[in-house]
Amino acid sequence: MTATRSVVLGCGSYLPQQILTNAELAARIDTSDEWIVQRTGIRQRHIAAEGEFTSHLAINAARAALADAGIDAQSIDLIVLGTSTPDHTFPATAVAVQAALGIHHGAAFDLQAVCSGFIFALSTADSFLRTGAFKRALVIGAETFSRILDWSDRGTCVLFGDGAGAVILEAQQQPGAASDRGVLTTHLRSDGRHKSKLYVDGGPSSTRTVGYLRMEGREVFKHAVGMITDVIYDAFKATGTTAEDIDWFVPHQANKRIIDASAHKLHIAPQKVVLTVDLHGNTSAASIPLALSVAVKDGRIKKGDLVLLEAMGGGFTWGSALVRW
Ligand code: ACO
Repeated sequence: MTATRSVVLGCGSYLPQQILTNAELAARIDTSDEWIVQRTGIRQRHIAAEGEFTSHLAINAARAALADAGIDAQSIDLIVLGTSTPDHTFPATAVAVQAALGIHHGAAFDLQAVCSGFIFALSTADSFLRTGAFKRALVIGAETFSRILDWSDRGTCVLFGDGAGAVILEAQQQPGAASDRGVLTTHLRSDGRHKSKLYVDGGPSSTRTVGYLRMEGREVFKHAVGMITDVIYDAFKATGTTAEDIDWFVPHQANKRIIDASAHKLHIAPQKVVLTVDLHGNTSAASIPLALSVAVKDGRIKKGDLVLLEAMGGGFTWGSALVRW
């Protein structure tokens, strides 16, 4: 029996020009390159210029993905944009992207699941495509976390950066077998009991301000590996696959120690792990499509490869996706 699958047509990414290194941070606050690299694997992050918004990063990533797919923007009928740092409280940043691309049909909306935003956006777009509601989706993760960081808090400001990544999905009929191309399964989870462990202390309805990111780093770390691996086991179970079948593991790029521990627990060999956190820090919803883009461009991820994605973040929210490229 055939199955409708959301097949990846292309991907792209964008990082703002300005780079902020660990050494530059160490000149401003009480930290060191050694501490940051040892605890997180991060060496530098990109910072959006004054007047450069989340939508601008997203538009650049979307254009790169359209070029990679070799398709016209007019064929896109759905845009789902994962972000926690929108240009404005409303309208959605996705409609700014839609307008910039000259698309006046279909639907565009934002989705807020913090660092899990891309997995949640991918899963949402996949569900719409498989029902036949839309035909081609642009799934974006874009963030300007530098705008919600307390630059005097060394426990958080060293961890995050700005960037955007995008993937284009198309509904296609596939044989309905394990060898199908496209999104094979997605699994989303959240548990609001943890909402105060990683949050922003402002908002339109509470303080009428934007606020700053606050985090209990150890608490996040404590839960991360278990939550990530549990939701990956769900993906394996749903598809009858094992860690051995995975060609590439593309995790949310938050912290090298969390990634290493997750891969180790899952028995995924280090050479199958795509790691870019050293180059751009934690870019929240943008980190997975940024890493995907790097690994596709350098020839690691190829058509037919089985790619495992996962993320965990504020809420807590977490999720996994298994995609045959
Ligand atoms: N430079 C130097 N010292 C620092 C820094 C810094 N940037 N930040 C904290 N410290 C100090 C602390 O003040 C503390 O000093 P003290 O012992 O004198 O009090 C010491 O380092 C240890 O602090 P901890 O917070 O216990 O350090 P820990 O080993 O837990 O590392 C870190 C902190 C890196 C944040 C870690 O907890 C972590 O990785 N947590 C996961 C957080 C994360 O990745 N969040 C991203 C969002 S969620 C997600 O995407 C999965």
